[in-house]
Amino acid sequence: MKLAIFSLAASMLIATVVGMPAASPEALSRRNIPPKPSEDSFYANPAGFESAAPGTILKNRNLPSTIAAFGLIPANIKYTQQILYRTTNALGDPASAVATILIPYNADYTSLLSYQIAEDAASINCSPSYALQFASDSGGFVGTIVTQLEWLLIQAALEQGWPVVLPDHEGLNATFLANYAGGKHVLDGIRAALASESFTGIKSDASVAMWGYSGGSLVSAAASELKDSYAPELNIVAAVLGGPIPNINNALYTLNQGLFAGLIPDGILGLSNAYPALETMVQEGLKSSKKAKFNTAYDTCLGASALNFALQNMFSYFDDAQGLLAEAVPSGILANNSLGHSTPSVPIFMYKSILDEIDSISYSDKLYKTYCNGGAKVKYVRDLISEHGTLAAFGAPKALTFLAKAFNGETVVSKCTKTNTLSSLLDISTAQVLPSFLKDTILNLLYKPVGPFLIG
Ligand SMILES: *[C@@H]1O[C@H](CO)[C@@H](O)[C@H](O)[C@H]1NC(C)=O
Ligand SMILES: *[C@@H]1O[C@H](CO)[C@@H](O)[C@H](O)[C@H]1NC(C)=O
Repeated sequence: MKLAIFSLAASMLIATVVGMPAASPEALSRRNIPPKPSEDSFYANPAGFESAAPGTILKNRNLPSTIAAFGLIPANIKYTQQILYRTTNALGDPASAVATILIPYNADYTSLLSYQIAEDAASINCSPSYALQFASDSGGFVGTIVTQLEWLLIQAALEQGWPVVLPDHEGLNATFLANYAGGKHVLDGIRAALASESFTGIKSDASVAMWGYSGGSLVSAAASELKDSYAPELNIVAAVLGGPIPNINNALYTLNQGLFAGLIPDGILGLSNAYPALETMVQEGLKSSKKAKFNTAYDTCLGASALNFALQNMFSYFDDAQGLLAEAVPSGILANNSLGHSTPSVPIFMYKSILDEIDSISYSDKLYKTYCNGGAKVKYVRDLISEHGTLAAFGAPKALTFLAKAFNGETVVSKCTKTNTLSSLLDISTAQVLPSFLKDTILNLLYKPVGPFLIG
């Protein structure tokens, strides 16, 4: 978190010193205030959508406003488009979801990265498709700060020339922690991006990889597990899971009374959005004196929820929290949305901080074992000098190197390996990637065209 805040402060400083960088007329003309998803008719199931096959593009449009780092600094992306596509929700019913497709300059149209942002909120107004636009509302003070920081990682991927699809994997109902529905939203977002060649240029047979950190790793892992049964036709060459939180039931206990206790109401209300039976039980179980405060998390984004509930005992909001958690519906939902239900055939790179304060590393060790015992191929790196927040940044160069090899057709994992590293930042591959990562990040904030520089 400290590094994250440092890099945020540095970027803000650059933005202030340089002022608004010059922008192309096209981007300038799209620097409007975008409507919130809750007030935007694009975010709705269109008539007759149920009969479309999962992954079908139902609608597409230019973004209402331009993509901007921290909602302020327009990014110079070659082409951006939003799509609404058919998918499946947590009850197994037809649903639709929005995704943003980003094409860098000098793109390699035979690769596609699906990046899953850790939205971690129960409001549709925290959707990445909206939060990444210029002048979007942050859903409370620093509400979408994590999304804004993750934009720097997405930009680093675009720098490699990879087209990127960013699914709103929580769907139109903001179903945070409904991880297997999220996994289907990811897979259908990939299908839709592969069907978009006529306007994006992405080849229908492009090699696909997935990447996500924390909340983004949950749905990326679920998508890896579901791929063979739900979307066997996809050519997914790698999945990168940073800071996974495999056991969400356990996370409730580790998060409680900590800095990120606000993830508890975000998660419980996110699951309530997915499962109406749970919603009834939760609302009946809340103390009447504390219900209104708990339910503010229906409207705030992650950073704001974290501030509102930091260090609080979230169990004290309920008449009998432990009793409620033990009942069949809540415990079944938590178990069903924890990871490890099936073995992914996709090669996996998993990295996790040994000192992770959100979720004990033992659960990631256990997931590694479950996957490997089932025959998966997993490269697992446990990182010592980091915690949950800093590893998001420290682990990124290694993740980019892994993805680049996978897109190159190299064998990235031939068997399960589990290693400890002092710091992922000291890795050789990191030393090769990091300088250009930092340089590009700064230049992109100055409106450099985002994409690899090609000679000739
Ligand atoms: C949102 O939730 C409502 C109530 O459960 C449901 O009827 C609707 O189909 C859901 N929408 C999506 C897109 O899943
Ligand atoms: C959990 O998953 C099982 C198996 O798919 C299903 O039968 C059960 O209804 C699910 N439980 C809940 C609470 O959704």
